[in-house]
Amino acid sequence: MSLDDGQDQVLRLFPGPATPAPLHGLYLEESLRPRGTPERPFVYASFVASLDGRISLVDPATNTHKPPPAITNPRDWRLFQELAASADVLVTSGRYMRDLDAGDAQAGLPVIEKPEFADLLEWRRGQGLAPQPAVAMVTGTLDLPIPEALLQSGRPIYVVTGDAIDRSQVEALESRGVRVLKAGSGKRVEGGALVAALAREGFGNIDMIAGGELLNSLIADGAFDRLYLTRACRILGGREFDTLLKGRPLEPPVDFELLSLCYDAGEGGGVAQLFTVFDRSKSVT
Ligand SMILES: NC(=O)c1ccc[n+]([C@@H]2O[C@H](COP(=O)([O-])OP(=O)(O)OC[C@H]3O[C@@H](n4cnc5c(N)ncnc54)[C@H](OP(=O)(O)O)[C@@H]3O)[C@@H](O)[C@H]2O)c1
Repeated sequence: MSLDDGQDQVLRLFPGPATPAPLHGLYLEESLRPRGTPERPFVYASFVASLDGRISLVDPATNTHKPPPAITNPRDWRLFQELAASADVLVTSGRYMRDLDAGDAQAGLPVIEKPEFADLLEWRRGQGLAPQPAVAMVTGTLDLPIPEALLQSGRPIYVVTGDAIDRSQVEALESRGVRVLKAGSGKRVEGGALVAALAREGFGNIDMIAGGELLNSLIADGAFDRLYLTRACRILGGREFDTLLKGRPLEPPVDFELLSLCYDAGEGGGVAQLFTVFDRSKSVT
């Protein structure tokens, strides 16, 4: 499905001068597309957040934290799928796998096999990529239901955990076709070790689709390159919520540089939003 010309437009504000740009293909375009190699892996993540910084609120129906429906929308979802289309591997969390098993997950793993994203699967083929990115699940608890359908999907499946995992647990996972990577001591996964382990498996573009806890591990280790942040122009409030980062404070703070800023006016009844892209600053302060 493609939008008509008017609706497919966003307004690129930075770098200037302001010019219209198509939404479809925005994050596959040369300047914004992730370009990692196993020798120089590139780690990125995308989030949609409200103006007051919420990335998830409590869903009263399931009592779990979910991205708020007031800010999730098909245009941001399209860009999320484009970023997954560029990925060699998606990095997700134990929490996501448990929600998926309970039927509470927001959606299945990208790239979603629906007609509106068929062009992305075609794009992958054209790039000589595997039909779908591999999946790496990061967990400390190893409480990790892995659906049979995912094991049969043809995607390489990894569990990444600390070195506390014992031999019998490794064997049980391997007997189901899952590859186990140890990337930290005890139960924790360290960001740098995670990226190094995935690079050794031959992955260059690493799309982190988990949340604030894993992002903290990556950023704290200097193992994170680019943030694609959609800012929905809405304020949500709420007492219980998640933001981009969870856990210990970053000392010193980590700086980012603006690479791109596009305004999406929310025509046709959608929410207005800013599509921002930030690269981790390479300059040492
Ligand atoms: N709005 C958005 O764009 C957006 C995007 C992503 C996520 N979210 C929301 O953010 C919230 C948190 O997401 P999330 O739970 O997927 O991600 P998370 O906070 O990064 O990770 C939570 C789980 O991942 C595992 N984990 C993370 N870092 C680890 C480490 N260093 N070592 C070992 N295990 C680690 C743990 O699994 P175990 O418990 O199995 O040990 C942990 O429970 C959710 O509500 C989600 O919906 C929103």
